[in-house]
Amino acid sequence: MPTNIRLPRDARIVILTGAGISRESGLHTFRDADGIWAKVRLEDVATPEAFVRDPAQVQAFYNTRRRDLQDRNVQPNAAHAALARLEREWRGEVLLVTQNIDDLHERGGSRHPLHMHGELLKARCQYCDHVVEERGDLSVESACPHCGLPGGMRPHVVWFGEMPLEMERIYGALAECDLFVSIGTSGNVYPAAGFVAEARAHGAHTVELNLEPSDGARAFAEGHYGPATEVVPAFVDALLQQG
Ligand code: APR
Repeated sequence: MPTNIRLPRDARIVILTGAGISRESGLHTFRDADGIWAKVRLEDVATPEAFVRDPAQVQAFYNTRRRDLQDRNVQPNAAHAALARLEREWRGEVLLVTQNIDDLHERGGSRHPLHMHGELLKARCQYCDHVVEERGDLSVESACPHCGLPGGMRPHVVWFGEMPLEMERIYGALAECDLFVSIGTSGNVYPAAGFVAEARAHGAHTVELNLEPSDGARAFAEGHYGPATEVVPAFVDALLQQG
């Protein structure tokens, strides 16, 4: 893959991934024609207000997604593996930030992906903030294993209107990186959609890898388009070769 990048081998890289990277693993995106938000209104399942109004409906939505994620057919794909390889072989720092709540980066070999929108396989107590691993269903009666109170366990995910996680660390890395790569995200949801401008303002080269140019494609200096399982390994190969 031709790339316009000439980077020192120890350059700092920030990668942002979205639902598109997990599409070929069998998980749905949000805003594509067959996406999650075409079937259910986000206001009904992905806001703090929805959880107050109808906690059972919200729990059921995430219970289904948690089960789907653990389906044996849902496995990390070549794009997840390529990013893990980049992390292993690149001499400089690589920070992988994902909007995805699935665990496919971890299963693909990435060591510490930063889940800015939380993690589906974790639950959090609304009363004491304790976070636990959760592979089963949550119910409106589930009790917290830490404080013991029933009824406060919620998916450890960031809903619309809530603050994404680890923002300070992410903005710190964006300010210092030499290369920012956005993969499989439509760029519709802030603050992640603003990362490209932030990185660019600090002098980084910016690249979009996506099935097709996203709405924000013009903000990137370079773009490569096609399925993630093809464009991501090719881009990582090109990076590692020129390094
Ligand atoms: N390879 C690469 N990109 C793909 C593929 C694929 N096989 N399939 C789809 N895409 C692209 C689409 O073209 C689209 O640009 O992935 C993008 C997915 O966009 P969204 O569905 O909007 O998902 P995302 O950007 O991750 O959403 C951001 O919105 O609802 C919230 O919290 C949710 O984290 C999510 C956030």
